[in-house]
Amino acid sequence: MPDKLNPQSSVLSPHNSLLITGGAGFIGANFVHYWIKNHPDDRVTVLDALTYAGNRANLAGQENHPGFGFEHGDIRDYDLVLHLLQEQQIDTIVHFAAESHVDRSIHGPDAFVDTNILGTHTLLKAAKTAWLDAPHSLSNTPQSSVLSTQSSPYRFHHISTDEVYGSLGPDDPGFSETTAYAPNSPYAASKAGSDFLVRAYYKTYGLPMTISNCSNNYGPYQHPEKLIPLLILNCLEGRPLPIYGDGLNIRDWLYVEDHCRGIDLILKKGRIGETYNIGGNCEKTNLEVVDTLCAILDELKPLSLHSSGHSPHSSLITHVKDRPGHDRRYAIDASKITGELTYAPVESFESGMRKTVAWYLEHLEWCKNVMGEDYKKWLEQNYEK
Ligand code: NAD
Ligand code: TYD
Repeated sequence: MPDKLNPQSSVLSPHNSLLITGGAGFIGANFVHYWIKNHPDDRVTVLDALTYAGNRANLAGQENHPGFGFEHGDIRDYDLVLHLLQEQQIDTIVHFAAESHVDRSIHGPDAFVDTNILGTHTLLKAAKTAWLDAPHSLSNTPQSSVLSTQSSPYRFHHISTDEVYGSLGPDDPGFSETTAYAPNSPYAASKAGSDFLVRAYYKTYGLPMTISNCSNNYGPYQHPEKLIPLLILNCLEGRPLPIYGDGLNIRDWLYVEDHCRGIDLILKKGRIGETYNIGGNCEKTNLEVVDTLCAILDELKPLSLHSSGHSPHSSLITHVKDRPGHDRRYAIDASKITGELTYAPVESFESGMRKTVAWYLEHLEWCKNVMGEDYKKWLEQNYEK
């Protein structure tokens, strides 16, 4: 995201206008808080449909910030997106909005194709209209120079996942930016489809874009359907801790604020047209994750042991039927973003997990509010067997 007054510069302008899609979800909300804290002069407009995964309360504290705006709407609404881009003079789209839960994509893939593929395409079309087709825009520049330049005042940054690369064997090297795509779940396939569309809009039309493929995130505001918050809340209530299969599936965990830092670096210094993998260099089996959480909770919340009669918390671990098509191992080779943009995560797994557990313990009311009827139905559907 170069300085608009000095197109050769890649130093962030103090007056960018960002559209953050999915900003009321887990990573999006963390990114909004991160961005406003670090770039208080920028204008931030959140576009979010507030599905079951979105929650406006995640943005509490920013609502009165000058330059903050919230639009309750759908990324598939072309007219709305185009209107926002023009009205707010958006120069940077950071696109988080998605259906994001693998297990839900197994039960109902349609929403994933609709939002992740068609929704991303709608955003791309609107960005092309606003940024490239409008008078005095980049479309007046010959296409070859559009593709080769780093001086665009616009940026479409697409948030993707390491899941597009498929599953690794135990001794395989981590996913790099040149690893072939091999998505295994409907979620991963829909994200792969959206990544390809973003790439195609760059190659065909010169839309200035970057993509980041990140590993599993954890931290504040994550919906309790995902592994880490699910385990924390089940521990507190003395409920079984459902571990799929043998629990030896490996994920590369990253504290969410470290993901936000990586995106910030890409927006500031990343090369247009490039993909950057972001990871924590932190591979853990699901059993290691649950053991770490249980040990922290044994220390911080020993009373929940007495009330539930389970001691220690790890006695709640229950192996359940495996997820179909369950990827065995993800790992990120982050050498490109580390070398090129000097990226390094700040949190260790232990420090990030402690922060996360502490946040959930302090936000039990928030948890209660997001665990409504829809959530109970989901638990019955996914875990009844
Ligand atoms: P999330 O499910 O917590 O949040 C998604 C947000 O998008 C919600 O606020 C929801 O209301 C909104 N949304 C959904 N459909 C929409 C639509 N049609 N129009 C507008 N808004 C819509 O997801 P998350 O975990 O925060 O993930 C954010 C992004 O990061 C996703 O693109 C995901 O693929 C990617 N990602 C997630 C992880 C992870 O570990 N969670 C890792 C890598 C990449
Ligand atoms: P999840 O948080 O759904 O992320 P993803 O599948 O996108 O990596 O799950 C993380 C890991 O935890 C994954 O290997 C599946 C496993 N898992 C369980 O064992 N039990 C559960 O109840 C859930 C939700 C996940």
